[in-house]
Amino acid sequence: MGMYAPGYYLDLKTLAEVRGIPFEKFRSGLGQQEMAVTPPDEDAVTMGAAAALEALEGIPPASIDTIMFATESGIDQSKAAALYLHRLIGLSPTCKAFELKQACCSSTMALLMATSLVKDSPDRRVLVVASDVARYDTASPGEPTQGAGAIAFLVSADPRLLVLDTAVGSHTEDVMDFWRPNYRETACVDGKYSIRVYLHTLGKSWKRYEKAGGYPFEDINYFCYHLPFTNMGSKAHASLAKIAGHDHLAPRALRRAVLPGLIYNRRIGNTYTASLYLSLLSLLDHAPPGLAGGRVALFSYGSGSMGAFFSGRVMPSYRRQLDPRRHKRILSRRIQLTIEAYHDMRDYALPCDGSTIKTPRCTTGPFRLAGIAEHKRIYESTATANVTPDVLRHGLSGRVCAV
Ligand code: COA
Repeated sequence: MGMYAPGYYLDLKTLAEVRGIPFEKFRSGLGQQEMAVTPPDEDAVTMGAAAALEALEGIPPASIDTIMFATESGIDQSKAAALYLHRLIGLSPTCKAFELKQACCSSTMALLMATSLVKDSPDRRVLVVASDVARYDTASPGEPTQGAGAIAFLVSADPRLLVLDTAVGSHTEDVMDFWRPNYRETACVDGKYSIRVYLHTLGKSWKRYEKAGGYPFEDINYFCYHLPFTNMGSKAHASLAKIAGHDHLAPRALRRAVLPGLIYNRRIGNTYTASLYLSLLSLLDHAPPGLAGGRVALFSYGSGSMGAFFSGRVMPSYRRQLDPRRHKRILSRRIQLTIEAYHDMRDYALPCDGSTIKTPRCTTGPFRLAGIAEHKRIYESTATANVTPDVLRHGLSGRVCAV
């Protein structure tokens, strides 16, 4: 697995102050502390490519059979984001590449599809990339739940982190709880309704997981949920416990089963397709000793709506495959934005009339969107680009950027 989060964030204390909302509402009401902000030269492609680099460390790119790119921050109606990434990370011309969409759960559909491909031909390696920018209207209830980031993971017959169980329970229904028409930069959301549909879908998916031969609630050590905000994980777990016959789940039991999976998401915000897998990585990086050999359940929810409940067993040697210090560094080295710089980055718009533009150098990651010319997005590796540190100190309009 690999993760990436942009090198800039807004502390929600700053947002709370400016919007005149008690910070406690964001911190304990929603369970969010900070949110990642993408600079003008980053998007779903650059973030996904950065996460894929980590996931592929020590693995020859030529051995990847297929790359599936899950996103709801697509940059083109026709060409898949996976194609840009295919070149950036040096995959083979024989590697198939495409994009998937179903709100936040297309990454899980990619995972399930990848497992079928691997079952068919066990020598196949499939790379799944989930990358998104979560953006809501300024000053709307969704604003403090924004975020951005990417997760990439490899699916193979020789898993090193998690062996998936065969039972999967899913539920699909056509509803309007969250959507983003093609002409909008920000999502439309009926937040309270969305929470109700999420919990309804969780209940239905769990029942079908049980029916398909899934593990009893008591035999599952940890639970990871899709997290539009981290308190959704606690709400979901309390609701699932009730359905599974544990009416009075002790707060300690709830914390133990869910908390380690919330740590990264509290500081990065919503990452849509990557959110559940960021939670899984957070669990793997933070769970106390004893997780090895344990069972983890995962609930994926995509508005609109579709959900899937499934589980897996953590490999005994999983710790050797991860680098938690690197992930913590990604967060600790980020630059804290002023509210003005947050607005500048949010409001930065790429031209849509075919004119040429070079984006300001801002990213601290390995790839960047260098600009647009003749309606074509131009990506480059920052190893060959000369990063101008000035942009890190001053906002896009020359205002102070960092706190
Ligand atoms: N101190 C502590 N907690 C506080 C508080 C304060 N001063 N003020 C409010 N809260 C709590 C509320 O009690 C509530 O907690 P609860 O849900 O446990 O009851 C929580 O903070 C949220 O406040 P509330 O006023 O109910 O909601 P809101 O209007 O701010 O909207 C969301 C919250 C989640 C609906 C909104 O942020 C949203 O729409 N987010 C996007 C959701 C999304 O992306 N869904 C789609 C994908 S699943």
